[in-house]
Amino acid sequence: MKNITKNAGSNTATDNSHKLTTKDMVLELLKENSCNYISGQEIADRLFLTRAAVWKSIKALQDMGHDIEAVTNRGYRLNLPSDSISASAIKALLSDGSDTFASTVLPDIIVFDEVASTNNTARELALTGNQNDTVIIADSQTMGRGRRGRSFYSPKGTGLYMSFLLYPELTLTDAVRLTSMTAVAAMDAIKETLGTKVSIKWVNDLYLQDKKIAGILSEAFTSIEDGSLSYVVIGIGINLYPPRTEFPKELKDIAGVLCPQGAEDSNLRNKLAAALISSFFRYYRNPMDSPFVEKYREASNLIGHYVKINPSQPSAQQKYAFVTGIDDSCRLMVKYDNGTEESLSSGEVSVVKY
Ligand code: BTN
Repeated sequence: MKNITKNAGSNTATDNSHKLTTKDMVLELLKENSCNYISGQEIADRLFLTRAAVWKSIKALQDMGHDIEAVTNRGYRLNLPSDSISASAIKALLSDGSDTFASTVLPDIIVFDEVASTNNTARELALTGNQNDTVIIADSQTMGRGRRGRSFYSPKGTGLYMSFLLYPELTLTDAVRLTSMTAVAAMDAIKETLGTKVSIKWVNDLYLQDKKIAGILSEAFTSIEDGSLSYVVIGIGINLYPPRTEFPKELKDIAGVLCPQGAEDSNLRNKLAAALISSFFRYYRNPMDSPFVEKYREASNLIGHYVKINPSQPSAQQKYAFVTGIDDSCRLMVKYDNGTEESLSSGEVSVVKY
């Protein structure tokens, strides 16, 4: 988990990109009414906008490629692309009564059409006074971030890009568990919605066979005064469908998708998001005592393998070891050639192929 210390007095965000724009709000309302026409006047009344502002937003959304029909005397109707994400659909799935926990403790859920990075948006939200556990989702990210300063490819309509903004009462050391918890929650959600079993590559990547289909970027923010944890942002990106153009060259051999056949269920991303949120918050209720560690261990694909530690670092920093297990803090237990043993809490490893 990356630890970024917040400067005292730096609580004023200068960038307001985390706020839902008028366009985002008009789009969400059109999604809620996607089978029906809604008049410009009704949109204006419900969102406290002028008719001119509604018209401008509709025009901008059409220019962005949204298929919005405008019919005289009836209004506007959004023809949804296959599998579009919407906050109202996710909330409806979470409160459908089958999951009493989720329906009583719903986090705030905000869906954006496009942001730079949902992790950045979460941080901006925290810096401007948000105090509730919040889930931020975007249909696409222009600057999706991965671990170790890498980028995370996040094209429109093909993945689930989601960040949890949380205020846990945990020490920084214990908050590391939230990353493993997210990996297990994602694994549960994928099994529940698609019936697909994925494995976890320590420390927090999800794999389908030998291809990475999801990654997690966790960031902790501490108070400079006493070093206590102020809030945590956990971002997860899941590749669902093949990108319209291929994966970039550097990802082609590494990245995979969960549904190579494309979108067959137009509500899949909402279902996956709801299942992930529900599973995560069930574990999160008891972060120090919950069954996710055992699930993490069972799904780990490195146990019994010989690995290279720090494969992307200069060779002087690389080591080789045999993976013996996952301990109760989800650390990787390794045994070096000289017989010494260690439990690694962070880092990168690759399997040595003979
Ligand atoms: C990795 O594989 O190195 C981690 C990838 C994390 C990607 C997710 S997508 C949602 C959230 N926003 C980001 O910018 N990154 C995370």
